[in-house]
Amino acid sequence: MAPMTSRGSKYLEEKRAVYAAPRSKRKVVIVAGTAAAALLILAIVIPVYFTVVKPKSTTSSDSSGSSNNSGGTSSPSATSTGKSTLAAVTGGDGSKITTEDGSQFTYSNSFGGYWYYDPTDPFNNAARPQSWSPALNETFNYGVDIIRGVNVGGWLTIEPNYSSPALFEPYAADSYPAVDEYTLHTILRADTTNGGIEQIEEHYKTFITEQDFAEIAGAGLNYVRIPLPYWAIETRGDEPFLPKVAWTYFLKAIQWCRKYGLRINLDFHALPGSQNGWNHSGKLGSVNVLNGPMGYANAQRSLDYIRILAEFVSQPQYRDVVTIFGIANEILGSTVGEDQTKAFYLQAYDIVRNAGGIGEGKGPWVSFHDAFFSRSEWSGFLPDADRITLDSHPYLCFNGQSNAAMSTYTTTPCTTWGSLVNGTMSDFGLANAGEFSLAVTDCGEYLNGVNLGTRYEGNYTGYTTSMGSCTEWTDWKSWDDDMKSAMEQFSLASMDALQNWFFWTWKIGNSSISGEIESPAWSYQLGLQQGWLPKDPRNAVGTCGNSSPWTGTLSAGSGSIPASVSSSLPWPPATISNAGTVTSLPSYTPTGVVPTLPAPTLTASATASIDVGDGWNNSGDNDGLMVNITSCSYLDPWVGPSASPPSPLCS
Ligand SMILES: *[C@@H]1O[C@H](CO)[C@@H](O)[C@H](O)[C@H]1NC(C)=O
Ligand SMILES: *[C@@H]1O[C@H](CO)[C@@H](O)[C@H](O)[C@H]1NC(C)=O
Ligand SMILES: *[C@@H]1O[C@H](CO)[C@@H](O)[C@H](O)[C@H]1NC(C)=O
Ligand SMILES: *[C@@H]1O[C@H](CO)[C@@H](O)[C@H](O)[C@H]1NC(C)=O
Ligand SMILES: *[C@@H]1O[C@H](CO)[C@@H](O)[C@H](O)[C@H]1NC(C)=O
Ligand SMILES: *[C@@H]1O[C@H](CO)[C@@H](O)[C@H](O)[C@H]1NC(C)=O
Ligand SMILES: *[C@@H]1O[C@H](CO)[C@@H](O)[C@H](O)[C@H]1NC(C)=O
Ligand SMILES: *[C@@H]1O[C@H](CO)[C@@H](O)[C@H](O)[C@H]1NC(C)=O
Ligand SMILES: *[C@@H]1O[C@H](CO)[C@@H](O)[C@H](O)[C@H]1NC(C)=O
Repeated sequence: MAPMTSRGSKYLEEKRAVYAAPRSKRKVVIVAGTAAAALLILAIVIPVYFTVVKPKSTTSSDSSGSSNNSGGTSSPSATSTGKSTLAAVTGGDGSKITTEDGSQFTYSNSFGGYWYYDPTDPFNNAARPQSWSPALNETFNYGVDIIRGVNVGGWLTIEPNYSSPALFEPYAADSYPAVDEYTLHTILRADTTNGGIEQIEEHYKTFITEQDFAEIAGAGLNYVRIPLPYWAIETRGDEPFLPKVAWTYFLKAIQWCRKYGLRINLDFHALPGSQNGWNHSGKLGSVNVLNGPMGYANAQRSLDYIRILAEFVSQPQYRDVVTIFGIANEILGSTVGEDQTKAFYLQAYDIVRNAGGIGEGKGPWVSFHDAFFSRSEWSGFLPDADRITLDSHPYLCFNGQSNAAMSTYTTTPCTTWGSLVNGTMSDFGLANAGEFSLAVTDCGEYLNGVNLGTRYEGNYTGYTTSMGSCTEWTDWKSWDDDMKSAMEQFSLASMDALQNWFFWTWKIGNSSISGEIESPAWSYQLGLQQGWLPKDPRNAVGTCGNSSPWTGTLSAGSGSIPASVSSSLPWPPATISNAGTVTSLPSYTPTGVVPTLPAPTLTASATASIDVGDGWNNSGDNDGLMVNITSCSYLDPWVGPSASPPSPLCS
């Protein structure tokens, strides 16, 4: 974005643009089929419809799964006309799905779920994932209805290099190897022989498809957590990431989830500058959000991206599908500071509520990652807040290694997490485990040695103990029934102890070298296929010895945070870690053009005028985008904490 200097309110009102195409009024009605070819071609969901037939009556909401007919629901009168190619708009177990590329698969759902997609009514939320989960147009009773979810990891943020090892492996031996998406995108841009940066989109297109979402519903799950990086919105200057394309796939995910009745937890996973310095945050190295000389500027920019995402998902067309918004994944709280983290969270909370409003249904729940502070630090955080949830990532494997057999871990989740989660439910509110896996060791391609000063196989700096060979943990093809059964017990105990959960992750890619999945404890899909994850996750209930873990009432706040609390968490924080007073650091100014997120372009089969939304729920929010001040100097967003601020800051 070019820096803007005018701050006149009329100017501000006009300058929020949709990057795909200029739009002249707030609520834009797109007549599907005439959408400009210049728009991103986004043929959402669903086949070519020869005849569109609305169901006479949709499946009843009494969760009986009554739509179990192999052709899906279609109108009898249409059938009697003799047309052979009726397209269904809904169907249950055994019905045929035709995807946008014309391929077909069978919807398999033995739990009474049914899909629903009518191109003439594309925002209809009638779909239900299972008989026991609310349809999208019904209320999800948090604290009573259980969140059973998977992450769709390694898709729109690419996990180096284990979720999708084949993308990284060809470049691993280079003198400039791909170690994160920053280097991967840089390398791919240069590697035009093999397709250049387009390889990233090829990954989006192929790694996860519509069928995955259908399978997720068929696996008894009702939620997905989808990690999204900031470059789905925009990039600036010479940032190498492929801009904006991930967003178009997130839009597909929304329509697919809508079709199969799944709710989405949108996980903002990679912030500009990096919020944790890990390779899945975009760039491996240092923390630059609320840390170091660019810490404040990067936080301002991140809050803007949170605003842009919140404004989009709070729109009536999207808010019943995207129902949770994790505003920042895994901020490294110990580096950033607890007060700074909490002040940032309060800003994010206000921003999300400003976009959607206060009260059930008005925009998403706000999910705060615990920033690796203990749960007790979050007790009573933001009293009276409206719909907030605390996200923790309980991974046994990153807390030390042991060579004990899998069978010794079967009740560990109950004893380790059960009462902690209960505690959060009573002294904070809704607890969710945004990530967990079945790994009890760091064995698994590219996991060996993660973090932490200890590892299972081989040595790690400062350690000389080796627990043994990782092969027994990774060679899943040779696992016997005892091992599989111990894995399943561990999974059931984890689900019951964590109560509301998102497994990390749905799918792990094959290694291009071995041709196989090398991190079996991290793939839900593999565990289902091979029999160490439950075919019916409700079987977890009671594993830890109490069949209704939480029986209290979740606090439902008025939405307004008491002034005494907000004044104790001022924004901006007076000091930024490893950088000094905030006034001595680069900052942005809200004079830029907001890159409002575009809606999907719907397929040509619809004839009705359909309001897809202009990307911005709260028409009263006319603040500009945080951008460079022309007369001031800035550092690279990932510059690191040891750099000094520019001097002078501004001329
Ligand atoms: C749907 O029909 C199939 C085949 O008749 C049957 O096996 C399955 O259990 C049915 N599913 C539901 C939810 O009734
Ligand atoms: C959900 O949508 C279906 C189909 O439009 C409708 O029949 C049903 O009444 C809706 N349920 C609610 C609770 O609105
Ligand atoms: C990435 O994968 C390659 C190929 O397996 C491996 O040699 C390399 O060590 C990996 N890179 C990292 C940083 O783990
Ligand atoms: C990503 O980081 C993890 C540690 O967090 C490491 O094990 C893995 O090898 C890294 N991958 C690459 C490609 O650097
Ligand atoms: C903001 O300033 C930095 C550092 O001077 C520069 O690299 C970047 O391109 C500028 N950004 C924009 C959008 O002009
Ligand atoms: C969690 O709390 C419920 C009451 O809401 C209680 O019955 C259960 O035993 C508790 N579980 C643990 C592991 O503390
Ligand atoms: C670990 O380090 C010790 C001491 O350097 C060495 O004797 C041992 O062979 C190493 N073990 C492995 C598995 O590399
Ligand atoms: C991995 O490769 C196997 C064997 O070729 C194949 O069946 C499987 O679908 C692949 N899995 C993934 C996640 O690509
Ligand atoms: C979001 O949009 C809905 C529907 O147009 C509207 O009722 C609500 O007031 C909006 N929220 C805000 C904060 O503008």
